[in-house]
Amino acid sequence: MSDTSLSGHIRTATLEDVPSILKLINGHAKKGLMLMKSPVDIYHNIFNFVVFETDGKVVGCSRLSVLWKDIGEVASLAVSDNYKRRGIGKILVNACLDKAKTIGLPQVFTLTYQVDFFKNCGFKKVKKETLPYKVFGDCLKCPKVECCDETAMLYTI
Ligand SMILES: CC(C)(COP(=O)(O)OP(=O)(O)OC[C@H]1O[C@@H](n2cnc3c(N)ncnc32)[C@H](O)[C@@H]1OP(=O)(O)O)[C@@H](O)C(=O)NCCC(=O)NCCS
Repeated sequence: MSDTSLSGHIRTATLEDVPSILKLINGHAKKGLMLMKSPVDIYHNIFNFVVFETDGKVVGCSRLSVLWKDIGEVASLAVSDNYKRRGIGKILVNACLDKAKTIGLPQVFTLTYQVDFFKNCGFKKVKKETLPYKVFGDCLKCPKVECCDETAMLYTI
């Protein structure tokens, strides 16, 4: 079980959070776990981000991007190493799913190496070919575009 004694809160990201978000994402990107982002990538998407703040600092982030009328993506999910396995990742994903529900989005997918984590969040594995082409826009920016080894997972609301 995750440590539920953690204090802190989830909130919508602000422009001031951009350096912390970049540090979280690019720290994991250097380990090959996610795609590297530039400041402008985050500024353009700042409305989509939520962050988890504790001890006065941002220790986790995630975003929900709407890709089409019936599908969105959870991406840019990262939790600082010192704060992993305390339930923060799940709180961030649930916040994205809540946003999806609020706006009437029926499905949310992710492309991930963290299959067991996302299973725990209620996502199910799907074949990439079953997802509409429209969802693969970000993949064109990925060095692994032609040899993707991530697993596609879908949450139906
Ligand atoms: C994946 C990640 C966000 C998980 O964050 P976290 O805060 O450690 O996860 P949580 O503590 O919320 O875990 C929720 C549940 O999933 C489980 N879990 C977490 N990471 C797991 C993993 N790698 N494998 C299997 N189960 C995992 C937890 O044990 C917990 O189970 P419980 O509810 O039964 O207690 C974090 O490990 C991370 O930042 N990884 C590197 C970046 C990355 O790969 N991001 C995903 C890009 S799609």
